[in-house]
Amino acid sequence: MEVVPVDGPAEAGALVADIVAAAVTAGARVLGLATGSSPLPAYAELGRRCRAGEVSLAGLDAFLLDEYVGLPPDSPQSYARFIRDEFVNLVDLDPARVHGPDGSAPDPLAEARRYDVALRDGGPVDVQILGIGANGHIGFNEPGSSLASRTRLKTLAERTRQDNARFFDRPEDVPRHVITQGLGTIREARHLVLVATGEAKAAAVAAAVEGPVTASCPASVLQLHPHVTMVVDEEAAAQL
Ligand code: GLP
Repeated sequence: MEVVPVDGPAEAGALVADIVAAAVTAGARVLGLATGSSPLPAYAELGRRCRAGEVSLAGLDAFLLDEYVGLPPDSPQSYARFIRDEFVNLVDLDPARVHGPDGSAPDPLAEARRYDVALRDGGPVDVQILGIGANGHIGFNEPGSSLASRTRLKTLAERTRQDNARFFDRPEDVPRHVITQGLGTIREARHLVLVATGEAKAAAVAAAVEGPVTASCPASVLQLHPHVTMVVDEEAAAQL
């Protein structure tokens, strides 16, 4: 695992954009996308580079990590909508090649299985962008998730619902269930690039990088992967 210190979110974004651009030049054809605020500077920077003609994502497929159950894809809080507004609309990806679990599917269990198969058929993901939850989750794999888990239905931890309440009108509107790629699914990507900025992530980053590999800190599973880049600012690295 390579830990790369950066000055802050802007430098983190530029570095992740460099990694994605280099992978595309080297023939990458599948991107893995994360939601949350951590990857936003990288998405903005890739948008700028696409508009400047410095990189093109046309022809690539992209797969989301996760989705809230019960929200239709057009709902303002859905991750499908988030990724469309914050990334797809900024770059030259074909929206039809951006894939995610359908949170409004009538049978979420079947939808999770369908998405896992879609990932297997469409993968492997060349570069998977990741954030990290304050409790060490990646995607929506909360503490206690099996390190070998596949895409499935999960119940959100209360801490995660509180952390994500800022995106909803009322805290009680945050869905309780999600569909998320499993830790085993995420580990099939060739290169995992995790971005963590700010002091709220310091404990989770330390546990992920230096703690034991344990389901109590799902991000610690990254220690078992052969190609991981952790992009961390000084605050997020404070406990390393
Ligand atoms: C959500 C997402 C994660 C993300 C996390 C951290 O829970 N499911 O993929 O990493 O939020 O978000 P942020 O980057 O906003 O701190």
